Amino acid sequence: MTSRVHLNEVAPRDGLQIEPRWLPTADKIALIDALSATGVAAVEATSFTSPKAIPNLADAHEVMAGIQRRAGVRYVALVPNQRGAEGALTGHADEINLVMSASDSHGLANLRMTPWQSLERFTPLVAMIRERAPAVRINASLSTAFGCPFDGAVPESRVLEIIDRLAALDVDGVTLCDTTGMANPRQVGALCEAVIARYPMLTPTLHVHNTRGMGLANVLAGWQAGIHHFDAALGGLGGCPFAPGASGNVCSEDLVHMFEEMGVDTGVDLDALIRVAETLPDLLGHDVPGQVVKAGRGGRRYPLPPGIG
Ligand code: COA
Ligand code: ZN
Repeated sequence: MTSRVHLNEVAPRDGLQIEPRWLPTADKIALIDALSATGVAAVEATSFTSPKAIPNLADAHEVMAGIQRRAGVRYVALVPNQRGAEGALTGHADEINLVMSASDSHGLANLRMTPWQSLERFTPLVAMIRERAPAVRINASLSTAFGCPFDGAVPESRVLEIIDRLAALDVDGVTLCDTTGMANPRQVGALCEAVIARYPMLTPTLHVHNTRGMGLANVLAGWQAGIHHFDAALGGLGGCPFAPGASGNVCSEDLVHMFEEMGVDTGVDLDALIRVAETLPDLLGHDVPGQVVKAGRGGRRYPLPPGIG
């Protein structure tokens, strides 16, 4: 199996939304521009959400206006409602990523909406986007698709029922999100296979968090099930502020390194990505979880200790 992998870099959105400190707009723009130059397929640049809910991304309009668009890279904005969709259209996002939850409690905590209420809002919203901007891609991200920190297990039947409704809305793709790292590889493989079999018209993406150390194992399980699109965050940043116990996404450079070692093309220049990752501790004022940036590539070699050999 050597199927090509497409990386959606979500650090500017999922990563920055939970940072303890505000990152100045110019630094966000510079980070997105640097990521754009590494060969990633997409950058989720920001979210158009309530600034009370997500104060770190209150500069969404300025960010979208300030970035340099690079041909071949999709610039994505996360959107929960009509107002957000209008913001994303004004900001010329290439893709609108509608966010909703698979579980009632996380939906209410994060968005003040149950999944069913989100779906009701999405119906006119998708129609509005299609009419005003037919070229804009519409994706739907389903948080807590593998488990909810409040409600526990989320049955696969519920997830598929929600995706049935999304498919009927004619979205282009669906992202299965493991918001707090509750998924295991067997579960990921099963749900990904079910989604791929049931919705041949939808592009599926996998979005996992490494909260319990299963991030890359879950990515591999998804890839083996036939997923080619993965969300990941530079440095392993990330987390939903309204999901207790949330921590970072699977780390982009670790993911690219894994696939590169396996001989799977990601389109990403790993050295370039690592160079951007190296800037994060200074930029954010703390260490980050990514491992390859510290250990170097698998091919790294050390001189023998003196007197040996
Ligand atoms: N962009 C900017 N502001 C928005 C907005 C948007 N998309 N949607 C709502 N608002 C503003 C409203 O104007 C209102 O402002 P005001 O208090 O100054 O009048 C305020 O936010 C509350 O609006 P309301 O419609 O009552 O929303 P709510 O309180 O029910 O919250 C959401 C719903 C969806 C707006 C809010 O929960 C949210 O933005 N959540 C995002 C969470 C998130 O991104 N989590 C991480 C990703 S998983
Ligand atoms: Zn996430």
